[in-house]
Amino acid sequence: MTPVSTDAATPAPSRTDARPPIPLVRPTTEPDGVLLSRMDDVLRSGMLTNGAWVRRFEEAAAEYLGVRHVVAVSNCTAGLLLVLRSIGRDKDIVVPGFTFMATGHVGVWNAQRVRFADSDPRTWTLDPASCAGTAPDADAVVGMHTFGTPCDVDALRRAAGSRTPVVLDAAHGFGSRYPDGTMVGGKGLAEVFSLSPTKPLSAGEGGLVTTGDDSLAEELRIGRDYGNPGDYDARFVGLNARMPELSALVGLSALERFPYWLERRTELVRRYRHNLDDLPGLAFQDVPEGARSSYKDLGVQVDPEAFGTDRAGLARVLSADGISSRFYFDPPLHRQTAYRSETAPPALPVTDRLAARMITLPLYSHMPEHDVDRVCDAVRRAHVDGPAHAV
Ligand SMILES: Cc1ncc(COP(=O)(O)O)c(C=O)c1O
Repeated sequence: MTPVSTDAATPAPSRTDARPPIPLVRPTTEPDGVLLSRMDDVLRSGMLTNGAWVRRFEEAAAEYLGVRHVVAVSNCTAGLLLVLRSIGRDKDIVVPGFTFMATGHVGVWNAQRVRFADSDPRTWTLDPASCAGTAPDADAVVGMHTFGTPCDVDALRRAAGSRTPVVLDAAHGFGSRYPDGTMVGGKGLAEVFSLSPTKPLSAGEGGLVTTGDDSLAEELRIGRDYGNPGDYDARFVGLNARMPELSALVGLSALERFPYWLERRTELVRRYRHNLDDLPGLAFQDVPEGARSSYKDLGVQVDPEAFGTDRAGLARVLSADGISSRFYFDPPLHRQTAYRSETAPPALPVTDRLAARMITLPLYSHMPEHDVDRVCDAVRRAHVDGPAHAV
């Protein structure tokens, strides 16, 4: 398993002891005999794409999620591109500012105008009130299940109005549940999951689009294959967004053990929160009553006054002990260079505050408990030594 390297937000380590480093995230892969022999079969068969394993993975995912259609794609970005294509060009879409860049990029690639809305200060997901105010006449709203916490799709639908589709960037949300007990994947026009190595369910790379709409599902199946339904007469300009058979095998194998790992991940987050509960100045994400988070990431907001140092000071203490961290999502999307325009970026006070205070701590499903404790000890040290480390 290869550690995912940290970005520039994490200072270079100046190690104080020889303990092994703790990565931010690692994919939980279990290359057992069954998986390896299936891979052997696929490699010998010569059917590396458009084969039976992608279909089997789609069926297993549809059963787990309780949805009508699952269309496997090469990654979440490609899935979102194809879903947003169905909204049309020259349209307005509303996206959160507090998100990963792909959420906005897919609109721009579809020649849509991207409008940014603010987030809820407790759940950190797209705020329906801000959404309604940002583009009352929007053609689509794209919600995001931030770090695995489901966004309030019902309120977003009310804010958007009955004729405006809501699309869910569910990159972080595989395994999450809505407050009504249904799995993330079953709401909106479509939901799009990422299966990249940083996600709780990984296929190496990959994406899954879920929808209850028969004609959209058909369009996505054609769209992931250049727009070619099989007769080489492209009905529209599609992509090569096919999931390879080997990725489907990795994803299917991970799905078979996923409920166990999701439970364990939830336990690790409980341990984190229990260990850090008494420290002032740290705010965790609220998961709405009845909902479940996949905990794709464990983000913590650091209030420098109350905690005694800011998140950069905390990151330095972690780094000195070989512990990776990251500042997701800073800069927030509406302030990124690619989104600069002649007009000033919109005022998104909650987003700006989240972006300025958020630090993501290490979390992966097979992370040893003693590593959680080691991270928490370092956080505690940063609090005690805070002023000495402050910028
Ligand atoms: C919110 C969000 N949307 C979309 C993506 C893109 O996913 P993929 O890498 O599978 O294209 C990511 C990737 O991390 C993400 O965090």
